[in-house]
Amino acid sequence: MNTPEIKVVPTPAAIAAEAAERFAVACEAAIAEQGSFSVALSGGSTPKAMHAILATEPYKSRIDWAKVRVFFGDERCVPPDHADSNYRMAHETLLSKVPIPLDNVYRMPGEIDPAEAGMRYDQELNDLFGPAGGLDLCLLGLGDDGHTASLFPHSSALSETTRSCVAHYVEKSTTGKSWRITLTASFINRSRQAMFLVAGAGKAKALQAILEGERDPDQFPAQLIVPTDGKLTWIIDVAAAAMDAD
Ligand code: 6PG
Repeated sequence: MNTPEIKVVPTPAAIAAEAAERFAVACEAAIAEQGSFSVALSGGSTPKAMHAILATEPYKSRIDWAKVRVFFGDERCVPPDHADSNYRMAHETLLSKVPIPLDNVYRMPGEIDPAEAGMRYDQELNDLFGPAGGLDLCLLGLGDDGHTASLFPHSSALSETTRSCVAHYVEKSTTGKSWRITLTASFINRSRQAMFLVAGAGKAKALQAILEGERDPDQFPAQLIVPTDGKLTWIIDVAAAAMDAD
């Protein structure tokens, strides 16, 4: 494993700008090398500003959207037009604004039976990536409690080592008690790059425990993310890094 890159920037807007540029660079490299780029988007609110940048010039034209395949890191078990849907957020802020073919968007079906949805997405990933392949880029967020994707503290998905995607019932999620569909850490760790975007003072305590504390992934699931042969990048603002803005 390589040492993670930790990039501290002044503001959430700077996280978005940095992440959009890195998205474009990773996309161009993957397309030059293999003709396509696979990326998993994350949910929550932090990615919205990066999506807005990618959906406007110069990025909108710079990115060859026909060669981009979009996946999701996790989904809330709600229909795609529900206010809590990660797909809905991605659609409204990015996917509806760029010329990406519909067939290139691999949505987690939050509206069907969760166990079935997890199995279907797992199968889809296996068909597309095989037993050892992975994403070019997996974008991730961090919760105040140390969760990432829908890998919540002490939840059953943390111990999953064979599947790429599972559904599980989470007692304490960001949307209360809820069913979630999530990529597993073992699949995320097959990515060429995993990139966390972390903004705000509310994340500082968990971030410090994850980066500098003892290994305790049951309490801080983001510690499970260590790409086997890939790069791990943290883009964080000064508030999350608990540093002064000056
Ligand atoms: C979700 C997520 C989740 C999110 C973090 C950070 O669906 O809830 O994908 O892992 O990324 O909770 O969310 P914020 O960006 O809103 O802080």
